[in-house]
Amino acid sequence: MTNTDEEKTVREAASAADTAGNAVGSAPAAKRPRKRMAVTLGVIAAIVVVAGAGLWVWHEQPSFCGAICHMPMSQYVDTYEAEPGQAATDKWGNEVSDASAMTAAYHRSETGATCLSCHEPVLSEQVAEGANWVSGNYEVVLNPTFDGVLLERDENQLTEASGKAGEEFCLNESCHNMTREQLIEKTSDRDFNPHVAQHDNYDCSTCHKAHRASVYYCTKCHSEAADELPAGWLTMKDAEKLEATA
Ligand code: HEC
Ligand code: HEC
Ligand code: HEC
Repeated sequence: MTNTDEEKTVREAASAADTAGNAVGSAPAAKRPRKRMAVTLGVIAAIVVVAGAGLWVWHEQPSFCGAICHMPMSQYVDTYEAEPGQAATDKWGNEVSDASAMTAAYHRSETGATCLSCHEPVLSEQVAEGANWVSGNYEVVLNPTFDGVLLERDENQLTEASGKAGEEFCLNESCHNMTREQLIEKTSDRDFNPHVAQHDNYDCSTCHKAHRASVYYCTKCHSEAADELPAGWLTMKDAEKLEATA
């Protein structure tokens, strides 16, 4: 490259820059559409955010689960909205003499728990569910003896996606912040302590049922446990007579 060539290139570049500068400076009209574009994009973004938030709120309602994938959630909503101290109906349609025996009703009334307080959404699980729904790659497994009701889950299945131990479903910082030992302490004033791990550490959901009357499992063998049957609870014998089990 000769000297003159170099100068020419530099001059051309400078003039190009000048023209570009002028184009911006001398054409204020060009700013308007850009501003309008910015406003339009802002509005679209706002709509997306509001619609997204609306969808998010709806997605947290039982009507979403019922509308999109599952069976209608009405029997679960009814057991959740039942009033402790009053008679109610379980998810299978059996009578419950006191709704406080249904953990979902009890927690709603005592702590204001929502469905998602217990059925904690895990993002990876939701994304997988969404993908399966889009591809139709899922199956709703119904109770074989009671039409229209899902198979009963236990706490281990409910914590599967989050990788928590089953009992962390209940024993965790935001719910029952205690150890098994402290739980045994809590009910040590009873003649027969249901939480003592005499034989095994039973899952909480062995006895505490969310959407049907809780069942005092120990009554299967210890008849004395039935003397202190909490309101609305069932003995093993009565629970086995229910119209549908698991
Ligand atoms: C206090 C915690 C809690 C609340 C609140 C709660 N659930 Fe559950 N849910 C459970 C547990 C525990 C199970 C496992 C079965 C059982 O123990 O009864 C379950 C099971 C289920 C199942 C699986 C099917 C079955 O019968 O096991 C569905 C569906 C369900 N719940 C929906 C809901 C909906 C909808 C709401 C809100 C209207 C709700 N749950 C509120 C704890 C809760
Ligand atoms: C063998 C049956 C059984 C099992 C298993 C069981 N519970 Fe209980 N639980 C009971 C009974 C019965 C009561 C007394 C209920 C009442 O008085 O209304 C009770 C009461 C409770 C209470 C109230 C205690 C109080 O008086 O303040 C809590 C909290 C509780 N259980 C949590 C749990 C948790 C968490 C698990 C699992 C780690 C669990 N339970 C496992 C039967 C059981
Ligand atoms: C399948 C029957 C069966 C079930 C269910 C059962 N137990 Fe027992 N339990 C026994 C037998 C039999 C004994 C006496 C022999 C022994 O100590 O193992 C016993 C003994 C006990 C003892 C020692 C004191 C005593 O009364 O002799 C305690 C405490 C106890 N069980 C608590 C529980 C609790 C709490 C539950 C419920 C979570 C439960 N058991 C469920 C059969 C059962």
